[in-house]
This record gives sequence, C-alpha cells and structure tokens, in this order.
Amino acid sequence: MQVVKYAFSQHGDERGQLIALEEYSDIPFEIKRVYYMYDTKPGVRRGYHAHKNLEQILVCVHGSCDVLLDNGTEKKIVSLEKPYEGLYVPNDMWREMYNFSEGAVLLVFASDIYKEEDYIRDYDEFLKFVKKGSEENHG
Ligand code: TYD
Repeated sequence: MQVVKYAFSQHGDERGQLIALEEYSDIPFEIKRVYYMYDTKPGVRRGYHAHKNLEQILVCVHGSCDVLLDNGTEKKIVSLEKPYEGLYVPNDMWREMYNFSEGAVLLVFASDIYKEEDYIRDYDEFLKFVKKGSEENHG
C-alpha cells in the first residue's frame, strides 16, 4: 500500500511560517468541506470508518497524532507531527486516529460535503465492500 504524504510549501520569513493550500494543486481535489478536531480527550481513538467515495487530506496543524490506514489487505501507521505535512486518504480506506498530543488540532480537507450514506462504519462490512470491489475490477 502506497502512503501519500505531502510536504506543503512553507512561506517562511523572519516573522514565521505561512502555508497556503489551493484546490487542484496543493490539495489534489476540489475542496467541498473543511472540518477540524480539537480538545480531543486523552486516550481517545476515533475515525473507525471508511468512505465509499470521498478523498481527504489530513493535516495536524498543531501538535501530533497517529493515523492507522487499512485498505482491507494492508495496514500502515502514519505519524502527523508537522503543520506542513498532509496525509492523503483515498476512498475505500479504513482509518483510525489516535495518540493525539495535548492541544492537537487535526484539520481535514474533504472532496465532498458530509453524507452519512457515504460512510462504512462496520469493519466487517468494509472488508466485504473492498473484496467485492477488487473482484469486480479483476473479473
Ligand atoms: P464522527 O464521524 O464521529 O467523527 P470521526 O468518526 O471522524 O471521529 O463525527 C462526529 C460528529 O460530527 C458526528 O455526530 C457527525 C458530525 N459531523 C458532521 O456533522 N459533519 C462532518 O463533516 C463530520 C466529519 C462530522
């Protein structure tokens, strides 16, 4: 499984850093929604879902957290600890976010508005869904 992590351009000078993210270039899709998690309580692990048709870029703009990515066959753990790092999460990818540092802010850019029907929140259902998809693709 290929993990796609972006290193965004930093516009730094003696005053500090600034990052600008534009759709279709820095963010590889049209940005239809932005949301963020903060005040995450100690020991919390969240996510536990996949999307049928949604791309996302996760940026831990303050603090750090870990992300488990699982495509149904392989799992990868990615640490997000820099405000200039973006993790690309495609559709059909189970994700769990955990190990949030105190005060961490996890910002998410999404390619679509919030649609509960796009979520797969049951892991066994996710495994069936990706297995079915790969059988359709490979005959
Ligand atoms: P939830 O899906 O539980 O977050 P995650 O699984 O990523 O940890 O979302 C928490 C709540 O926020 C839930 O009641 C749904 C709501 N929500 C929205 O209304 N809009 C959104 O864009 C998102 C991501 C969540």
